[in-house]
Amino acid sequence: MRLFAALPLGEEGVRDLKAYRRDLEKLGVRGNFTRPENLHITLAFLGELPEWESAAEALDTVEAEPGLLLLDRLDTFGKGGILGLCPTEDGPVRSLAEKAERALRSAGFALEKRRFRAHVTLCRELTAPAGTALPPPPAVTVPVEEMVLFLSHRPKGRLTYTPLWRKKLG
Ligand code: 2AM
Repeated sequence: MRLFAALPLGEEGVRDLKAYRRDLEKLGVRGNFTRPENLHITLAFLGELPEWESAAEALDTVEAEPGLLLLDRLDTFGKGGILGLCPTEDGPVRSLAEKAERALRSAGFALEKRRFRAHVTLCRELTAPAGTALPPPPAVTVPVEEMVLFLSHRPKGRLTYTPLWRKKLG
């Protein structure tokens, strides 16, 4: 099973990003947009594992205070035309991601050494008509309140992130 730990976005953020997607589509922007229910910020990517319980056990040792994270800028990265919404100040989420990584490594999970970059993937394989300037994104405030262990799978061919376990912070 393919697993990752993430921060869910909260209802308001999901609503604002749905509206932003509509704005982009009106401008002719196309791509593989993340379905609203799949929007998240990855904290730690575990990859393929035989079971999820030991990852949950490790994540359960993380101690962190709740907070708020402001996503306020767009970024594009990767070769696949990825459009992400990112924080200028990533403090609250970086510290949580580092704690999650430390807890998982101490429990023996081999994580990739990819640099942590807090982001919500809005769209992959983005294309836009020549000369299109993307409108400014909504400022999204993400409650840093719970960490969720997600299963990434494709029931009926549809990429779906199913929460398996949650931890409330604080
Ligand atoms: P992405 O949004 O930047 O594509 C489920 O696949 C989640 O795990 C996505 O948020 C994805 O990030 C992230 N992810 C996939 N492969 C990863 C990797 N090798 N390292 C870190 N995160 C990864």
